[in-house]
Amino acid sequence: MTKPARRNAGSSSAFSLTERLFATADDRRAAKAVDTGIVRVEERLVEETAFHDGLAEVSARYLLDAGGKRVRPILAFLTAQLGDGVTDDVVTAATSIELIHLASLYHDDVMDDAEQRRGVPTAHTVWNNSIAILTGDLLFARASKLLSILGERAIRLQADTFERLCLGQLHETAGPRVGEDPIEHYLRVLADKTGSLIAASAQLGVLVSNAPDEYQQAVFDFGEKVGIAFQLVDDVIDLAPPSDKTGKTAGTDIRAGVVTLPLLYLQRDAPTDPAAAELLRRLDPATIDVTPAEEVDALIAELRVHPVTLETTAEAHRWAAEAVAALAPLPEGTVKKTLIRFADTMVERSS
Ligand code: IPE
Ligand code: IPE
Ligand code: MG
Ligand code: MG
Repeated sequence: MTKPARRNAGSSSAFSLTERLFATADDRRAAKAVDTGIVRVEERLVEETAFHDGLAEVSARYLLDAGGKRVRPILAFLTAQLGDGVTDDVVTAATSIELIHLASLYHDDVMDDAEQRRGVPTAHTVWNNSIAILTGDLLFARASKLLSILGERAIRLQADTFERLCLGQLHETAGPRVGEDPIEHYLRVLADKTGSLIAASAQLGVLVSNAPDEYQQAVFDFGEKVGIAFQLVDDVIDLAPPSDKTGKTAGTDIRAGVVTLPLLYLQRDAPTDPAAAELLRRLDPATIDVTPAEEVDALIAELRVHPVTLETTAEAHRWAAEAVAALAPLPEGTVKKTLIRFADTMVERSS
């Protein structure tokens, strides 16, 4: 009688533990596809930021070389696994989205008068506003050119997204209309300026990988809500201590008079809370730029530990939970599980 073959007993139990702790074979395949996709996007980004012009080439590569998390391509690669996976077209779409994001950073830093981005001085401080704006425009042009090979629906999605992104920035600049609730206005701004591009990344992943059309709306809603959560976390990160790893200057928004949710909560509370009213008065955008730097640092530190900042973090988590709820139409499995982890990671981030 032959004994049943022992299948490498010692290591197989360790292996099954690893399997249980980390992921299924499908999860690992998905992770590998994302990693490979990111390597390809990095190559494409370098190609797409090449210009036969010394200045444009240097200014376009400047923020690209400074880093970035590649959140949007990763999301497109995850949703593409509902279809044919990370195909050449999906890599092209993800590269295009990342170029739009990159371009928007050049423009945003001019508008916000930001000093640092991705750990380096912002482009307009290295060159000037015109060069930063034109570099952004060049990158938008390249993004459109890339997407044009993916067909009309992709181009349309990009145009709609770009429109919302600009309107979000415009409405942020203009502020709420008379009678409009400032917090509702703000959340709409976040959905437009940040949620739209993250939503488009998720939708493009489905569209370009030939996944079932019925998943498009679910992943779009997921992306938009995650984007809101992501941007709310960004408001809290803006209050982080100067020595941290954000790659931005602490309090950039506060110093530039950009309204964030902690400030809006202070405004909401001020009529009934004298301490909130006093802190708000000291944070007044009209006087903050003439306030001594150490005093602003102290104000930012005070705001960092204030209940309104904790409330902002809680609101970010609420949006992440809504994002996860939007995934209900997706089949159970690796993609859904990974998207849920993606949402969690976005709100747990500190950079
Ligand atoms: C920064 O986006 C701008 C926002 C919309 C909050 P990211 O946090 O994705 O920036 P990078 O690409 O990692 O630098
Ligand atoms: C992000 O907005 C920029 C865009 C969505 C175009 P913010 O101004 O709030 O983000 P950071 O803090 O500069 O990255
Ligand atoms: Mg900014
Ligand atoms: Mg901004």
